[in-house]
Amino acid sequence: MTDSIEAQRPSNRVLPHELPAALRDAGLMNWIREPLDDAVDRRRRIIVPPAAAAMGTPASAYQGALLAEARHPDTVFMMGDNPALPTMPERPVLKDFFQLRLSKIGASHLLQSAKVAAKRGLDEKVIMACLLHDIAIAGLLSANHGYWGAQMVGPYVDEEVAWAIEKHEALRYFPDESVGYTYPEAYIDYFGPDYNPPEYIHREAAAARQHRWYMTSRLVTINDIYSFDRDAVVDFDEFEDVVGRNFRQPGEGLGFDGSPVAHMWRTMIWPNNFL
Ligand SMILES: [Fe+2]
Ligand SMILES: [Fe+2]
Repeated sequence: MTDSIEAQRPSNRVLPHELPAALRDAGLMNWIREPLDDAVDRRRRIIVPPAAAAMGTPASAYQGALLAEARHPDTVFMMGDNPALPTMPERPVLKDFFQLRLSKIGASHLLQSAKVAAKRGLDEKVIMACLLHDIAIAGLLSANHGYWGAQMVGPYVDEEVAWAIEKHEALRYFPDESVGYTYPEAYIDYFGPDYNPPEYIHREAAAARQHRWYMTSRLVTINDIYSFDRDAVVDFDEFEDVVGRNFRQPGEGLGFDGSPVAHMWRTMIWPNNFL
């Protein structure tokens, strides 16, 4: 009797296992989640870094070794809820992503940008665009973040808001003295004083400047402050009304409404899924 109870205890099913030296030396042990007390089924779970994150880094050389780890008993690839992340509600809304998924610093930057825009009495479309402009950096991918972000929110916001988010990426590099926008000091630190963005960014910015919604996107860049207070806490609820009027939350929840971008929201819900 005692034996059968013992046998049912999931922790006893996990065999002791030493990671191969190659993975330990590469510092990749962090990609394998050992069965902790809060794990769903006490199995060791491997997180394989996405290609976009590993490419060009030492981590890419060890993907084979990570894959081989799945052959061990009680070891599987991460699928579904990662116990290291807070659980998302079944039908998540924008606020849930801000509170449970976006990086703290990313969410704070978005909220502070939106707050500055609101204080200046700008149009709600501008406030909404500021609130969402770097959502891709905070929750999905940094490279091409304006484009990813614009697509992600496209079905739920006014076309002008999505456009402003997309174009802020290119416009950010180009001063417009007529409205008091200068090249960001932060970019000198980030990219060096000699950085010149690629040709397509020059083209995108030049085209955006001729567009009727130019000023909406320009206002995103003007309120896109990097000298923000890292400790400031801006409550998402301050924007509840603006979001209510300017963001169409799907009834099924973001990620489950069958929209062409639902997969992007699901990727933020389960960012470590193997497939
Ligand atoms: Fe940005
Ligand atoms: Fe930003």
